[in-house]
This record gives sequence, C-alpha cells and structure tokens, in this order.
Amino acid sequence: MPSLSQRAGALKPSATIAMNQRARELKAGGADIIDLTVGEPDFRPPSAVLQAASRLALSGADRYTPVAGIPELRAAAADSYRADGGLSYAPEQLMVSPGAKSALTSAILALINPGDEAIIPVPAWLSYAEQVKLAGGHPVLIATGADSGYKLSPRALRAALSPRTKLLILCSPSNPTGAVYSAAELEALAAVLHDRPELWVLSDEVYRAIRYVADAPSPAALPELYGRCVVVRGLSKSHAMTGWRIGFAAGPKPLMDACIAIQGQSLTCAAALSQLAGLEALRGDQAEARAMVEAYAQRRAFMTERLAAMPGLRMSAPDGAFYAYPRAEALLGKTDSAYPLNSSDELALYLLNEAGVALVPGSAFGDDGALRISFAAADGLLYEALARMDRALAKLA
Ligand SMILES: Cc1ncc(COP(=O)(O)O)c(C=O)c1O
Repeated sequence: MPSLSQRAGALKPSATIAMNQRARELKAGGADIIDLTVGEPDFRPPSAVLQAASRLALSGADRYTPVAGIPELRAAAADSYRADGGLSYAPEQLMVSPGAKSALTSAILALINPGDEAIIPVPAWLSYAEQVKLAGGHPVLIATGADSGYKLSPRALRAALSPRTKLLILCSPSNPTGAVYSAAELEALAAVLHDRPELWVLSDEVYRAIRYVADAPSPAALPELYGRCVVVRGLSKSHAMTGWRIGFAAGPKPLMDACIAIQGQSLTCAAALSQLAGLEALRGDQAEARAMVEAYAQRRAFMTERLAAMPGLRMSAPDGAFYAYPRAEALLGKTDSAYPLNSSDELALYLLNEAGVALVPGSAFGDDGALRISFAAADGLLYEALARMDRALAKLA
C-alpha cells in the first residue's frame, strides 16, 4: 500500500472513544457493563426542539446553508453570548459549526503555523493537542495539580512562554476536572499576556451552562483579551444535543473570516435541520435545559460524597461539567491477585474487568494519577456503578 501522510501517522486516537468502544464490545458480547466513559448527556434534547425538528424536516430543510450558518441562528447565538457572559459580537463575528469540535479545529488551523507552540494546561481534553499537531504546531502541556484546583498559575504561564508561543488554550468549566476559573484568576493570566500582544487565547466554553458556582467568566470578557480571543460554545452539552452537531465560534472578524473560509473548504456547513433545531434550542423555553443542570447538581453531590468515602480515592466536588475526577494515586502499586495496577490505565482496566464499570483513566488527559467518571448517566446506573467500584476497590491489597 502507498504510504499515508506523516500527519495521519502522528495522530493519537481519542482514549475516551477507545475506552467507550471497548465497553460497547464487551456489552455486545453479553457482559454487564455500566459505561461512564463519554461525556454524553443521558437526557433527550428539550421536547420543543424535537417537535420543531420533526415539523421542519417535513417542511423542507434539505439544502446547503450559508457556510457560517443561517443568519437567524448566528443572530440567536450572538444574543446568547451577550446574555450569558456579557460578550458582545456582531452576527458576522459568529460561525455555526458541525459541533464545537470542528469549531475548535477551524480556529486552530486559522491560528497555528508549523512550528508554533500552543500552551495547554493539563489535565485537559487532549483533542486540543492532536488538533494543534494536525496544524503542524507543538502542544506544550503544562501540568497543574489538584492543589491549585487544576488551574494554570500566572507563574507557570510565564515560564511556559517561548518566542514560538502563539496560543493559550483554556477550558472552563474544564473537562475532565470541572475547574472553573474566577475573574481574578483570568485577570492574573491576562496580566502575563499583556507583554505578548501577538498571542491568542482559545476559550473552550462548551460546559458553560453546566456549572455549580455563580459564574464561569470568559477570558473574552476582559478588555485585555477580547480582541485576541476566540470563544467556542455549543449545544451538545447544554441542550443534550451531541448527535445534532451544533457548535459556535466567536471572535475578531478577520479570524472568523479565516475560520469560515476553512470551514467552507472542509465541512461546508452544519446540517440545515440541526441548525433549525439549534435555533429552537436557543430561542425557546429553557426550563428543560435548566432541569438537566439541576439533575447534574444532585448527582454531583452524591458522586462526590460516595467517591470521597471510597478506599484509596481522594475526591473534591467539581465546580462545573458532569465529571467526577477522583485522585487515585494511593491505589497505584496495589495489586489484585491477577492484575498489577501501576497506572491509571491499569486501574481503569481493573474496574472494567472486576466491576463492569467503564470509565476513563487520567492518562487520557495527561494525568496518570486520576480517573474520570461521567455522571451524565441515570441515577440508578450511577448508584450501581458506585457500589460495584466500592466492592472492587476494597479487594485491592
Ligand atoms: C472540552 C470539550 N470541548 C469540546 C467538545 C466537543 O463538543 P462537540 O460534541 O460539540 O463537538 C467536547 C466533547 O466532549 C469537550 O469535552
């Protein structure tokens, strides 16, 4: 076979998707697996969204739309950026994408030249690093610890800057840790960036709606950063619409024009019907979306309490998103009769085999000392998974 590109060879598959795939295979083979791997809401989208979509499917949404999205949805998204976080963008500064992930890809391709560095505080969703590599850039992963609440400190940011740095990628609320930066913490990072006006900030805010603290401020709300920040949001998590694939990016017009050009040559546009459903999601009643967040808040409370009490785990409550992220260092080195557990991968595999609970090892986020457990799953499944984990962890010597 003729060779593939170096780019394709260098790309790491998503560890979360790999673990989810393994759980599906085991399930298909008849095993009793509770799958808490992917960040996929267990709720259906709001009923008005589904009703509007079925009506609109019949009345005709069969054609391409403008590359950047239908004007009504761009305007609705601009309104929602303003209403939720006080960010002011004209509809022309906003692009609708097939999912937030492709909005991130377009922004990274529009910003990163070969050899440029992108600073990514970890633990992080490692698609950022792979996307930076796809663009020919170098991801610079900066470890943050549980003690700092998994947040990048101004000092660590300053130390990571090099003449090649082009981009800082922030995710708040964070997948996997649930960390939410305060306005003061963002201001301290902005002060470091003051001396480097050529640097961009990519703010991934897809979990913004799911927070358990009063606010999750955007770096773009700071005057220092507004003109060099691209803000990515979407409907996958906020409205349980992962499969509809609607994301948004907003930023300075020249950057957005570049993102739209990239999207136009790669993806064309988000699906027409999904955009109409997205319009209903943004303009319609928000009661069902709010009820989902209330359900996540209750699950967060019992997940935190139960995991904190489990042998060998250290757990603090996440401020946002729908993941529990217990530290598991105390379990590494322990052994079951059959399995040596020297890494988060081995621990996750042990829990899969012994407890039938699929979760994601911290290594998937650049942090080998933790586990990520999605609580975007029905309460009954979560209770059962916690009971099984408790029993399995108690067996380790
Ligand atoms: C941090 C983060 N950003 C972006 C995305 C992608 O969202 P979407 O499904 O809209 O592409 C995800 C999905 O899991 C995520 O966890």
